[in-house]
Amino acid sequence: MYIVAEDMEAFDCIATKLDIREYSSEDVPASIRSNILEAARLTGTGLNTQHWRFVLVKDKDNLKKLAEDSTSGKWVAGANFAIIVLTNPKYGFHMIDAGRVLQNMQLAAWNQGIGSGLFTGVNEEKLRNDFSIPMDLNPTVIVGFGYPVRKLTGKRKNRLPHDDLVFYEKYGRTNGQV
Ligand SMILES: Cc1cc2nc3c(=O)[nH]c(=O)nc-3n(C[C@H](O)[C@H](O)[C@H](O)COP(=O)(O)O)c2cc1C
Repeated sequence: MYIVAEDMEAFDCIATKLDIREYSSEDVPASIRSNILEAARLTGTGLNTQHWRFVLVKDKDNLKKLAEDSTSGKWVAGANFAIIVLTNPKYGFHMIDAGRVLQNMQLAAWNQGIGSGLFTGVNEEKLRNDFSIPMDLNPTVIVGFGYPVRKLTGKRKNRLPHDDLVFYEKYGRTNGQV
């Protein structure tokens, strides 16, 4: 049974986290927002370049704008806040960096009972204009956060089994042991 709980072990957090797209109207405390942004700041980047920047969006009208600028994340209009992750595409590894920071923020949030969802589909021109995003940075991923609208119990993750995913010593070799 998967539940949102506080102070989970790292593995439990990974194992239970689901992407949440429906949020309650309860405000997330500033201390939690700050903790999520600190998790982002502390994440490592390739060559420690720290090329990323984060735009925190809390204002309801701006969250609406964010939803309007999105093609695959209209649900962000109902988030308590969102973070636009900007990365510099001149670094070949910038998408890996984005994935790492995204997951760290989501896990830091989940650990404190906060759900989050992400989207990547945007009308880039509108988004750049609405949020003053400079041309040298890409709006790589946008994450919405908030308390989940309902308690998450009994929902299982839809994932492939271990044996479909893991090979031993060579691709395709299924007889082996962990
Ligand atoms: C690279 C990437 C892009 C994604 N883009 C979107 C998106 O545009 N909109 C959205 O609602 N979810 C998006 N998702 C969320 C996935 O749909 C979600 O992680 C997946 O369904 C597993 O969800 P679960 O952990 O709740 O089972 C994206 C996830 C990843 C990793």
